[in-house]
Amino acid sequence: MRADPPDPGKLLPIAVPPSRRVSLVWSATGLSAIATAMNDRLTLRRPDDWHLHLRDGAMLAGVLPETARHFARAIIMPNLVPPVVTAADAEAYRDRIVAALPAGARFEPLMTLYLTETTDPADVRRAAANAIVRAVKLYPAGATTNSASGVRDLTRVLPVLETMAEIGLPLCVHGEVTDSEVDIFDREAVFLDRVLAPLRDSLPDLRVVMEHVTTGEGIAYVRGEPAATMGATITAHHLIIDRNHILVGGIKPHYYCLPVAKRAIHRAALIDAATSGDPRFFLGTDSAPHTDALKEAACGCAGCFTATNALSCLAEVFDRAGSLDRLEGFASLHGPAFYRLPANEETVTLVRGAPVAYPPKIDTGDGPVTLFDPGFPLHWHVEESTSR
Ligand code: DOR
Ligand code: ZN
Repeated sequence: MRADPPDPGKLLPIAVPPSRRVSLVWSATGLSAIATAMNDRLTLRRPDDWHLHLRDGAMLAGVLPETARHFARAIIMPNLVPPVVTAADAEAYRDRIVAALPAGARFEPLMTLYLTETTDPADVRRAAANAIVRAVKLYPAGATTNSASGVRDLTRVLPVLETMAEIGLPLCVHGEVTDSEVDIFDREAVFLDRVLAPLRDSLPDLRVVMEHVTTGEGIAYVRGEPAATMGATITAHHLIIDRNHILVGGIKPHYYCLPVAKRAIHRAALIDAATSGDPRFFLGTDSAPHTDALKEAACGCAGCFTATNALSCLAEVFDRAGSLDRLEGFASLHGPAFYRLPANEETVTLVRGAPVAYPPKIDTGDGPVTLFDPGFPLHWHVEESTSR
């Protein structure tokens, strides 16, 4: 059974978007009509997704076209079973992704390694030198889906982290402590104090991405650090839901992800950061497909699947915040700058019109996967991709 959509009026601050302000005078003069046409179309460099779960096998084949349709590149999470630990694992996984691409798709997977306490610094160095991997992912053991092989004791991975600091390879961090006495809603803020700040003090040159930041504390921490060594990804869904959406009126398993969405005040801080133009913040959808059978269960999996409508969701959020002019920075420019890659030359055009009817689920060989429901109409859709 699908959850009732949340009340749209409660999701986002109600502001009259610039496009709507102009379209009120659409019929008045030809000049206004031109302004409307421009405000209802937005051309951006083709976006990238700096945090994505593609899985493997039938699920990979089912979800990959959803990302490849709109995004040029994505940082691919390594939390498979078994995880992507070595350069050889990453190369083999990259080949499986490329083989699963639809004919004619232009999409580049940017691979990551799953950091374990036995990761070999020399293997990481080689993989980075050959551009096989673009980052290493730190999962505190037990923090989330398939994190059992993650790190228990950071001192055991110091040689790897020192190598990464030396060669400039980013560390992507799942920023939550796992101690059972820490409340799940506090785990990100506690991670900043207990793990991230001390780590950055001891290795200031290590380039770190705080993945899927969900709290005002996380935003404030990142803002206080140098943009050359500290970035943060923000998901589309954390800009749209807060914890009430998960729990009020019945439990909504498709809104459950990790880090779990926090209070509305934290969502406001995320919107403020994403729409601020600050280069430290960029899009990482954390689109994380699980079949409905695994989500709608007594112990349901964490993850929101947003690959299909993430750009529509983002455009709506930025439009409502009056910040459409900053969407390109967030979705297409800040991430490449942090990862020291060129921005994409191709473009996508977003068009504002009648609400888009996305399918509620996509079919995969493993079973149906429910698409994230923002709970309000999505007026923006991707019209086209073109070369510059
Ligand atoms: O919600 C989440 N799902 N958070 C994660 O950190 C992992 C992801 C997954 O792999 O399903
Ligand atoms: Zn993730």
